[in-house]
Amino acid sequence: MNDPAIEIKGLTKFYRHFKALDDISFQVEEGDFFGFLGPNGAGKTTTISVITGLANYNSGSVRVFGHDVTREYRAARALIGLVPQEFNFDPFLTAEQILIYEAGYFGLPKGKARLRADDLLNEFGLSSYRRLDFRKLSGGLKRRLLIARALMHQPRILIVDEPTAGLDLELRYKLWDFFKEANRKGITIFLTTHYIEEAEKLCNRIGVIHEGKMVEVDEKNNLIKRIGHDTIEIQLDRTLPTMPESFSELGAELMQGGTIIQLPQENQQFSKLLRLIHAQGIDILNINSKKTTLEEVFIHLTRNKK
Ligand SMILES: Nc1ncnc2c1ncn2[C@@H]1O[C@H](COP(=O)(O)OP(=O)(O)OP(=O)(O)O)[C@@H](O)[C@H]1O
Ligand SMILES: [Mg+2]
Repeated sequence: MNDPAIEIKGLTKFYRHFKALDDISFQVEEGDFFGFLGPNGAGKTTTISVITGLANYNSGSVRVFGHDVTREYRAARALIGLVPQEFNFDPFLTAEQILIYEAGYFGLPKGKARLRADDLLNEFGLSSYRRLDFRKLSGGLKRRLLIARALMHQPRILIVDEPTAGLDLELRYKLWDFFKEANRKGITIFLTTHYIEEAEKLCNRIGVIHEGKMVEVDEKNNLIKRIGHDTIEIQLDRTLPTMPESFSELGAELMQGGTIIQLPQENQQFSKLLRLIHAQGIDILNINSKKTTLEEVFIHLTRNKK
């Protein structure tokens, strides 16, 4: 068996007295497209900082392709391309310089770095901006440059912290295509995002973190199947003030002030319910089958139970 791309065991981290990560464990296999989801302040960026060696931690172990991120920092870090949540460039460097300096940091020779920078500037539509200072680039261009920079040393895993926040739809779709293609070529992708729909489209596995604790890690489809409830919604030609008992016995509920009846699909009572509705002389205007979305699962998992 190959080493997992990321292996986290019992990771706990404090910021002074505040426990930001509480005994988290999970792994990401090579080739996965992993979505790391959680509300604001859940601990996503902190976890990424530990994986990339930018933050220390109190206990546990973290490995990247088998390399311990503390003891074998350089070996682990060389395999990771990091696209951070915040821009962290020198604002007076040009786009091209930013890429070439990054390559130097990873020990790529100058000539090779130039060629690689050319390729990436091209691939990300940045060629005509190569001599502009970073501060003169628009938000979307900066975001693209961040991703290009992360790829300069040809990492095996790309860690992206909120890559599409604040981008217009067209650029978001372009980046989605880019991530899909990179993943198809074998790069493992670890993505955090607040656009749950983005994770639903792109990821094959999902980890959910909430208040520093891992609450779920599973294949996306399993997660939705396990936690979600597909329903059937039946729109009536009238408003029912209360639900007839025979309907509720099947597990049906009244919605939208009494104009819609909702039935969990797993009850398999659909035809029975239709017959009952019909027997009451009620007409049906519309029937909708509603699949659970990852967003509903996410809300369910991260709702505060206090
Ligand atoms: N350098 C720091 N010093 C003290 N507390 C911190 C520091 N960085 C983060 N925290 C706290 O740790 C918790 C986790 O923060 P983190 O940035 O990891 O969350 P996140 O999941 O990335 O959130 P977001 O979705 O808002 O980016 C938060 O309560 C945050 O306030
Ligand atoms: Mg964050």
